[in-house]
Amino acid sequence: MPAHPIREFLRCLPKCEHHIHLEGALTPDVLFSLAAKNQITLPQNDEAFESPTSLIERYKRFTSLDDFLHYYYIGMSALVTASDFEDLAWDYFQHASADGVAHAEVFFDPQAHTTRGIKYTTVVEGFGKACKRAEKELGITTLLTSCFLRHLPPKDCLEIFEDEEVQKSYKSGVVRAIGLDSSEKDFPPENFTELYRKAKDLGLKLTAHAGEEAPASYISSALHNLGVTRIDHGIQLINDPQLMKKIALDKTMLTVCPLSNVVLRCVDTIKDVPIRKLLDAGVQFSINSDDPAYFGGYILDNYVAVHEAFDLNVKEWESIVKAGIEGSWCSAERKDELLQRLHRVLAEWKGKI
Ligand code: HPA
Ligand code: ZN
Repeated sequence: MPAHPIREFLRCLPKCEHHIHLEGALTPDVLFSLAAKNQITLPQNDEAFESPTSLIERYKRFTSLDDFLHYYYIGMSALVTASDFEDLAWDYFQHASADGVAHAEVFFDPQAHTTRGIKYTTVVEGFGKACKRAEKELGITTLLTSCFLRHLPPKDCLEIFEDEEVQKSYKSGVVRAIGLDSSEKDFPPENFTELYRKAKDLGLKLTAHAGEEAPASYISSALHNLGVTRIDHGIQLINDPQLMKKIALDKTMLTVCPLSNVVLRCVDTIKDVPIRKLLDAGVQFSINSDDPAYFGGYILDNYVAVHEAFDLNVKEWESIVKAGIEGSWCSAERKDELLQRLHRVLAEWKGKI
């Protein structure tokens, strides 16, 4: 028996990760070494940037989503070459593999790079290579999602969406979905109706961050105005029982990020993440790391934290992992494979935990 049987059981489950920003996997150590290599000057008027250690300490004191985003955007300014992006994503996929991730749908923020002079093709070349390598060497199936920054004018988002290279990446299938992220409050989903209509016409999968800090009305707007089939975060759903019923009925999946919610102060403790309420209401959800280098853990740490807070039984874990597989944007064959793997793992662990 392993020393920590529950952690080992959770590790063995064939998990799908649906909410990870690749730029959010940039650790302070890598950030500092890339900044030195690429001759990027980090802010000198903020003592958090004195060393990787002081930055790690600052990450423990985020006060809100916007406070985190300030550091997130500065951090990624150290990424310059295609191999910087590839190494970053590869580092994430290795962690994901060690944590037992079987399928990973990963976000990136094109505008956070193009607005500082990095070519879209550089970013996609690096992230795309790492995805291919993860498939080949780690057996993880992957899907790249380009997120749009909702704090920027919607016309800027449309402009990059229509850029020739961006369109090429959609048509070739390198990027297969779009999302919406960054500051949430005061930047409601309905601002992006035209963008999502065009993405839908291209056959792209659609998701959006909604109901992380902002109210449940952002979730209904994302569903009705953007036509998304998935909601990222979505924890404010519990404040709208009618909408919660509809989401459960439609099997719309939420991508919940427990450690992120605590670190960004959307909730006080993991116990306040509405895991039990979502389970009781029959809402499908997956558990994810969001920005693992900033929030103190990769996917398995999130699973363990949820287990410790809610003392879930094997049946409940089965239903969470199954919802993650069924809610994934991979092929039906891949879903069958992962469901069979889930049943094998459950059989192996029967009576042991
Ligand atoms: N919310 C919004 N935007 C983000 C996040 C998040 O949790 N992480 C990275 N960009
Ligand atoms: Zn996110």
